[in-house]
Amino acid sequence: MKGKSEKKQDSICRDVREQHSSAKRRNPRGVSTSDLIVSAYIGTNADVFPKILSLHVPTGVIIADVTYGKGIFWKNIQKDNYNLKSSDIKSGIDCRHLPYENDSIDCVVLDPPYMEGLYRRSGTQLAGSGTYSSFRSTYSNGEHTENNGEIKYHKAVINFYLEAGKEAFRVLKQKGIFIVKCQDEVSINVQNLTHVELINAYRTMGFYTKDIFIVVSVSKPSVSRILKQQHARKNHSYFLVMIKTNGKNPRRIIN
Ligand SMILES: C[S@@+](CC[C@H](N)C(=O)[O-])C[C@H]1O[C@@H](n2cnc3c(N)ncnc32)[C@H](O)[C@@H]1O
Repeated sequence: MKGKSEKKQDSICRDVREQHSSAKRRNPRGVSTSDLIVSAYIGTNADVFPKILSLHVPTGVIIADVTYGKGIFWKNIQKDNYNLKSSDIKSGIDCRHLPYENDSIDCVVLDPPYMEGLYRRSGTQLAGSGTYSSFRSTYSNGEHTENNGEIKYHKAVINFYLEAGKEAFRVLKQKGIFIVKCQDEVSINVQNLTHVELINAYRTMGFYTKDIFIVVSVSKPSVSRILKQQHARKNHSYFLVMIKTNGKNPRRIIN
């Protein structure tokens, strides 16, 4: 058991270490550059994802992409730079029940279906049916996404992200990185800022939001029939970069 003065000494040492590490970020020996990774890009997920990895995830570590889908995120990445464990419900692994030990993974990537229509129970009510079926097969498992009983609409989306977040927290090592792709949505004519809801809910689990990236779509959205537009059509989505902190002050835990 440490005494009062020993604890104070520890705290001073931590502060000195912090000052030292922040001094290292801008060092007289560093170079001036405008070649920086920025927080918003017009482009695709495949353009932005490599920038996120290069800034936040060291090579050689274990990354579990738990909603791997068609692997579009990885299109522009040298995969053997990482120990990549790819899984998806299509290959029989539910991201809410991962086959990994506690505290065993350095980085989890989560990109589940983000539209409430993809969580409805009846197959005939799924968003992306008919001419949108290829959209649906990319953004969901082509069927509906299982959720707990009566939770509906946007709540079902959030519920799914939270269950997957709890599982990510379990398998991540301390200071592990959780990369979450999401998009806000208007559901039953109500605006839902999904990224804000997730940041707040994940914080209560012990995740610190270290960074946020905005991807602005290159393609121009259009609709075939509209009476009066009520909300700005979403043409952007987010990557959240969260760190598992166990609720500790992030300034004390992040290098
Ligand atoms: C938006 S897509 C992911 C696209 C992927 N990031 C890519 O680069 O191709 C959503 C994925 O979540 C998967 N999915 C849906 N429910 C799931 C679950 N319970 N567990 C794991 N994957 C799930 C779908 O099969 C689909 O591949």
